[in-house]
Amino acid sequence: MTAIGAERYRELLSRRAARGSRANYGGIAPTYQLGSGKPDPASFPKHELVVAMADVMEIEGDDALTYGALYGWDGLRDLVVHKYNVLEGLKLERDNVLLTNGSNDAIGLIIQAFVDEGDPIICEAPTFMATIGAFRRQGADLLGIELDDEGLRTDLVAERLAALREAGRRCKLIYTIPTFQNPAGPTMSERRRRHLVKLAREYEVMILEDDAYAELRYDGQPQPSMYSLDDAGFVVRTGTVSKILGAGFRLGWVIAPPMLLGYLSAFNFGGGISPLASRICAYYLKDHLEPHIRELIDIYRAKRDSMLEALQQGLGDTDAAWSRPEGGFFIWVKLPSGTDPQRVSELADAASVGYVSGTMCMPNGGGEDHIRLAFSYDQPEQLREGTRLLCEAIKQAGVGVSSGTTF
Ligand SMILES: Cc1ncc(COP(=O)(O)O)c(C=O)c1O
Repeated sequence: MTAIGAERYRELLSRRAARGSRANYGGIAPTYQLGSGKPDPASFPKHELVVAMADVMEIEGDDALTYGALYGWDGLRDLVVHKYNVLEGLKLERDNVLLTNGSNDAIGLIIQAFVDEGDPIICEAPTFMATIGAFRRQGADLLGIELDDEGLRTDLVAERLAALREAGRRCKLIYTIPTFQNPAGPTMSERRRRHLVKLAREYEVMILEDDAYAELRYDGQPQPSMYSLDDAGFVVRTGTVSKILGAGFRLGWVIAPPMLLGYLSAFNFGGGISPLASRICAYYLKDHLEPHIRELIDIYRAKRDSMLEALQQGLGDTDAAWSRPEGGFFIWVKLPSGTDPQRVSELADAASVGYVSGTMCMPNGGGEDHIRLAFSYDQPEQLREGTRLLCEAIKQAGVGVSSGTTF
């Protein structure tokens, strides 16, 4: 019998699945990986993790190798509580924490729990590309709102919420990455955070505060999380060990009012969130969390500065502009005027330099004149060379005019 073709599968797939499939990124990675925000492999504490793994096996190997609790292993939930209470002065309890398979999974559970077909959802434009796909598959009507140096324009959010109400439509969720925004980089000011929380109360809408990078601040002053500014239960916040230890653990979490966690975890089939990985991670972090974060901050600050310097050298004589993030992994570059983005892509491919096109980060189209660069993965020398080659490609692909370099 001949195998059925793609058309016939599409008839069988659910409406959600039929909204699009995703290729497995495999193939050959470019020599210069300025695309995806992978953590620095040289920072992985491999030796210490071997020790942690041996301790786990010795002390609680039987529990580590069987199914775990639905909300995740309590030892790691307690560590998450400790991290926020000690580092940020929150008053969390274990019942506020649901462990997940990375924060992508946390975001996915929240989207499933709050978004129905056709629901208007407010997000930043640009925003994190993976969540755009997840919202679209769920059938959300994504409404992107622009950012500036102070983060999401909450004045425009207020206008949009009022217009939706006027039209008889209910926005149930606002998705934001307030700290070291991916990809644009700004951190939302306290004033705007307070404004957004006030709007959430006024319109009874949930805020999904995606805080994947909050620990990695290289300069400037921390801002209070919206979770800490909300006393009415309208904010759910997600976090991850991907950026502070290793993405391979696939461990993240949601912090939220306890009564919501049951609705979120109901979308998991059961078996718990890797009981083995959770223990290895917690055994390591209980003694090393703060010093390891301090080490990472030094590593990533130096990498950010190398990339900024290479951009200045490569594009400083054009009218290109780029962000100077106080933390996180990304730099958002506005291409010099007159640049042909398709040509940049071809030339960068030929030079084996990866990057992300701005179009991937836009919920409602546009972004051709921007690219996202990550300084997290490559080692410093490679980072400089990759950025130099990319700047050359950009210049060859257009006619930039001379000017300054602020965002
Ligand atoms: C803004 C943002 N949120 C969430 C994630 C998901 O990270 P993970 O699933 O590894 O925790 C990422 C990863 O790049 C990210 O940039």
